[in-house]
Amino acid sequence: MSNPHPNQSCSAVVGLQWGDEGKGKIVDLLAPGNAAIVRYNGGANAGHSVVVGGKRFALHLVPSGVLRPGCRSIIGNGVVVDPEQLLKELTTLTEQGIECSQVLVSDRAHVVMPYHKAEDAARERALAESLGMAAVGTTGRGIGPAYAEKVQRSSAVRMGDLLRPDWLRQRIRAALAFKRPVLERWAPEVTDALDEDLLFQTAIGWGERLKERIVDTTQLLHTHLEAGDRLLFEGANATLLDVDHGTYPFVTSSNASALGIAAGSGVPAQRIGRLVGIAKAYQTRVGAGPMPTELKDAVGDQIRERGREFGTTTGRPRRIGWLDLVALRYSAQINGITEIALTLLDVLGGQDELKLCTAYEIEGERVTHFTPDACTLESVKPIYETMPGFAEDLSACRSLDELPEAARAYIARVEEAAGVPITMIGVGPDREQTIQTNQTLGVGSVG
Ligand code: IMP
Repeated sequence: MSNPHPNQSCSAVVGLQWGDEGKGKIVDLLAPGNAAIVRYNGGANAGHSVVVGGKRFALHLVPSGVLRPGCRSIIGNGVVVDPEQLLKELTTLTEQGIECSQVLVSDRAHVVMPYHKAEDAARERALAESLGMAAVGTTGRGIGPAYAEKVQRSSAVRMGDLLRPDWLRQRIRAALAFKRPVLERWAPEVTDALDEDLLFQTAIGWGERLKERIVDTTQLLHTHLEAGDRLLFEGANATLLDVDHGTYPFVTSSNASALGIAAGSGVPAQRIGRLVGIAKAYQTRVGAGPMPTELKDAVGDQIRERGREFGTTTGRPRRIGWLDLVALRYSAQINGITEIALTLLDVLGGQDELKLCTAYEIEGERVTHFTPDACTLESVKPIYETMPGFAEDLSACRSLDELPEAARAYIARVEEAAGVPITMIGVGPDREQTIQTNQTLGVGSVG
């Protein structure tokens, strides 16, 4: 009989804000000792950068664990894969001396086809220019249309289909029957993405080059679990961009919180014992949508420059804001995180004072719970608590004791509000620039 209390040998890393929290670095740090690092959601919209020994690696589809020899890098069934981008990334990593033979992709992961990228761009343009509405501000990587095709079922292409020519051709033909009228109306300049033969030959070529990597990853993960191995799940995008629990409609198209792990990998949620939520010491957002604590002033500009807050995927300047504890508490709850890694604390250095949003004012009422509804969130007014800033450079600090008093007080306040311990603190981009502590600074958990 199987054990009714399965071992919890898995851990996970998820973003608690709107992405770009520095998940890649934390995944890389936690990777040793795990048999595999697993992506379960999103696609090439994600941009994880990891700095090792002063060298920066930009990853979009390949899990960040690839930089640790001995770990398998698994792209699970819940990811939408742009094979062109995957092949490009594998080539770049190999040229940089990174061993990539253990990068595997689920045969059930869906393929982002060129017409998905064309549709993504066309929809954004149509919203802004023809319909006079706010565009989502997508990364343009075809993520939404690819997930929509998956849910439609009739014309989607999965990675395993790249190895079945007859089936593949039928799927592409069906997709084009539906896409053609849409793209001819909204993107008349698009031609290659509607050429059946060209698409078929391109997709067959992807299959040829990736065939050794396309496997049943769910089965493989369960084989690892049966052998008692540890697995680490790497969330892409972040909780406030989750299609169900984020600030809809300004979200991505997958379950980017930890709630997506089971569906996106085939590993049940109760296997996860350690769930690390990553939050920046401030807040950023790329793309459109509400952001109550946004700073549109010199302080925001300073933080953007200091934190190099420009998108890894699109190069867009990120919107900057003070840390929103109302949103953080919500994200902690939704994911059921067991600890927090607070990243980029060093970037706040040099500010005279630091503000933390502890509540919202909605129609004259003080509210302490988060609403992910974009229309409501658009009109809330942040209520701040002000704390002293710190001038010191934190980049060389490696323990809590070395941090200035004001930085320690700031961490303690965040920990108190989130109600879970802060176990890691980022003080610079390098793998080594992380304070790891099992000591907590908070004054106790807060409900
Ligand atoms: P999409 O995922 O490209 O459809 O974009 C939807 C929204 O999510 C846009 O506001 C993007 O800027 C945002 N987004 C998607 N992935 C990330 C990420 O990894 N970091 C930050 N923002 C992201």
